Amino acid sequence: MRILGIETSCDETAAAVVEDGKKLLSNEVATSIELHKKFGGVVPEIAARSHIEYINPVIEKALEKSESTWENINAIAVTYGPGLGGSLLVGVLTARTLAILHNKPLYAVNHVEAHVYANFLTNTSLPGYKLPSKSPKFPLLALIVSGGHTQLVLFENYFKYQVLGKTLDDAVGEAYDKVAKILGLPYPGGPSVEKFAKKGDSKSIKLPKAKMHDKYDFSYSGLKTAVLRASQAIIGKDYSFPSYMLASELSDAQKADIAASFNHVAIETLVDKTKQACDEYGPKSLVIAGGVAASPELRRQISDRIALNVEYTDIKLCTDNGAMIATYGCFAHKNSLVAADPYTIDISPNIKM
Ligand code: KG4
Ligand code: ZN
Repeated sequence: MRILGIETSCDETAAAVVEDGKKLLSNEVATSIELHKKFGGVVPEIAARSHIEYINPVIEKALEKSESTWENINAIAVTYGPGLGGSLLVGVLTARTLAILHNKPLYAVNHVEAHVYANFLTNTSLPGYKLPSKSPKFPLLALIVSGGHTQLVLFENYFKYQVLGKTLDDAVGEAYDKVAKILGLPYPGGPSVEKFAKKGDSKSIKLPKAKMHDKYDFSYSGLKTAVLRASQAIIGKDYSFPSYMLASELSDAQKADIAASFNHVAIETLVDKTKQACDEYGPKSLVIAGGVAASPELRRQISDRIALNVEYTDIKLCTDNGAMIATYGCFAHKNSLVAADPYTIDISPNIKM
């Protein structure tokens, strides 16, 4: 069974073909990230316009690379939320049109949930991918950490899950992006903060961990403000000193110490709660999904503190991609989930898991 997955929720236009929920046959991504860099974050109108430009060539290439024709494709899966409205519309309208034209079932996919499914891929003929040796087992604990989401979810089976906790304000990836902005480092913040953090002392600045009413919930807005206040204090200014002027006053060594201290606490908070959930629920597998799964600090702290053997998927499958949508589509098709009506299915920018 072959599924075409289409993803356009943010700034990546992506399409992929996956076989039987296990084998990655193609994975094409065109990103508009370079166009957003000078604004320090994704500009929705620019992202939507780029999707219109890229979507057809990306889908054609995904079909071609997988050596698929429309006859080989059993169904289409597309992200319908959450994400940027204009961006989601491009993917959903394209998928609707293709489903009607080629008479294929269409599955509407929740982007955040689909991030977890990327971890089921264990086989590929594509060069340059490092995939897990086996698929994760249920019950499965998933830490979903991206630019828009931070949550701990316990999956009893495919499509059967319980959200244990989520962020009440900023997502962890968003905190990286905002801290990068304070330090004058390029977007996306994760990799650039990480790079500076390597040269700094993670114990040099004391940053707080949020205390939550529900033990598995997260909060990252206080940590981001604490980084801002610490940066102002380091250069001897008070809270009124504007954040956009800080970067030019901080030395590289000071930036490195701030980045290292933030990086350590941001990740430690994730691992504290993940470890607690592992102890309480005893999952057979732990999966880390979403862009922040690329963090080497996260991987290091998990292997230091959690006894489960975690197999990470390729970084190209941690950040936004079409393969995770196609994999979700494979299991949806296999488990006879209700397909969407291609004539009426709409986007759902604020949908939650
Ligand atoms: O999953 P993703 O590609 O897009 C969303 O659905 O949001 O995640 C992007 C996020 C960005 O906020 C980026 O700063 C973060 O993932 N990220 C990282 C790293 N690489 C990317 N965060 C921490 N460390 C990294 N190495
Ligand atoms: Zn994502």
